[in-house]
This record gives sequence, C-alpha cells and structure tokens, in this order.
Amino acid sequence: MVPADEREALRALLEWQIELGADEAIGDRAVDRFAEGDRAARDAEPARPGPTAAAEARDATGQPPAAPAEAADIDVAVAEAEAAAAAADSLDALREAIAAYPHCELRKGARNLVFADGNPKARVMIIGEAPGRDEDRAGRPFVGRAGQLLDRMLAAIGLDRNAEDPRRAVYITNVLPWRPPHNREPTVEEIRMMLPFLRRHIELVGPEVLVLMGNTPCQAILGRKGITRLRGKWTEAMGLPVLPTFHPAYLLRTPSAKRDAWSDLLALRARLGLGDSDRKEES
Ligand code: URA
Repeated sequence: MVPADEREALRALLEWQIELGADEAIGDRAVDRFAEGDRAARDAEPARPGPTAAAEARDATGQPPAAPAEAADIDVAVAEAEAAAAAADSLDALREAIAAYPHCELRKGARNLVFADGNPKARVMIIGEAPGRDEDRAGRPFVGRAGQLLDRMLAAIGLDRNAEDPRRAVYITNVLPWRPPHNREPTVEEIRMMLPFLRRHIELVGPEVLVLMGNTPCQAILGRKGITRLRGKWTEAMGLPVLPTFHPAYLLRTPSAKRDAWSDLLALRARLGLGDSDRKEES
C-alpha cells in the first residue's frame, strides 16, 4: 500500500506531466534517463559549428576541417545498417537484424518493432511512413484509422492484405519500424539509418510493383518529396515500377483528395491487370 502523502505526490506529478502535454503512457516502467550516461554526456557537449561555418573555417593547411563528429557518427551507423541488412538472407533474419540494430534512438521510446503485415508473396508492396500509436501497440503496420481506410481502398480494387492468393495480396511495411514520438515526421538521419533495411526488405520480398504512400517513402526510395506532384505518375526505383500516392492519413484529413487517390488506385489495378470480376469474386 502506498502511503497517502506519497500517493498525493504521485498524483501531483502525474497532473503536472499532463499539463506539460503528456497525454499517453508509452511503457509500464519509467525510463531511467540518468542511466543513459553516454548520450547525456554527448548532448551536454557545446554545440558544434554547423556545416556552413565548418566549411568556411580553414585550418593551417588551408583544408576545411573534418565533417562534424555527429555526421561521422551517422555515417558509421548507416554503414552498420548496410552490413547488417546485406547479411540478412530471409525476412525473419532481417527482422532480427533490425531488432538488434542499436543506433536509431526511436527504438527506445517504442513499445514494439513494427516490421510488416500481409503476404510476402504479394505482387504489390506498399510502403508507408512509420507506425502510429495503434501500430506501436499492435506491432503491425496500418491497423489504426488510416489503416482501415487503406484496407477499404485496397478492397475496392480487389486487393487484400490477408489474401493467400499472391495475385490479390499485398504486403505492407513502413520506412521506419518504430513510432516517432508524438507521430512527428521522421528525420533525415532516421531515414538514412533505416533505409538499408528497407531496401533489403524490398529485395527479399521481390514485389512486381511498389506503392509509396506520402512524402516519407518518396524521399527514402526516390530521393524526392512533393507528393502532390509525384502522385499518380509511374516511375522506377530499384528496377521496379513505383507508384507514389497520397497517404491515407492525409485522405482522412482531406477528403477532397480521395478523387485523385481513386484514380491512382485505378492505375494500380490496370497495371496489375485486375478487373471488376476480381473485386466481385471477393465480395
Ligand atoms: N501511418 C503509416 O505511415 N504507417 C502506419 O503503419 C500507420 C500509419
């Protein structure tokens, strides 16, 4: 039994956290930030000059100084991701390699690693951004409201993540396997670190077609953003036809964009050679 004064103190602490904007408990145990000595020490270092200042500063030899150590840290982290991804020779091995990858800080705040859902033999591989709250809890991509809309959109053209028949199946993953705090956008560094795993994921699944939903997968796979311009136009990456389209979460916020999304779905259906009968067989 917790003593009354301690209970009061805990309640006051909780109220204070709620006032600060903490609206959700993400784990059963508190994280001991003091135990994260290395990270705290690094964060406490004085700010390093940014790349522009660094490029302008010259040492005695007239050469620009080396890139900031943090950029070098990221390069090392990316190189490790590349090596781990290349060594994975199956989807199970890839999942394990991601679970063991220590460099992406998002893993610390996430409940679950969200790897993929659907049929790995599918012709279509769909790539989203990152898990949200529901996906973090379930450990599966696209299970929240956006995911339910996605399922309805796919059903409208005869596709289904639960289908065993590869002709009608889809396979779904995200650029990032861990939920970013408060569903913020993934950073460039997070995308860089996790991209080798995503590319290997695509190689191991070997789909006929990639569908990129929203800006984040377009930035990761195509190196370009601007989904409003990119959507609906077939392009190519990793030797595969790629169709960028709106993210279903955007469609929930912007119903007027559903018309364009429908036209993208029809383009996908045509590319797969599916017809009305495929949809009817299912219903
Ligand atoms: N949004 C995404 O991009 N991916 C998910 O898994 C869920 C929501």
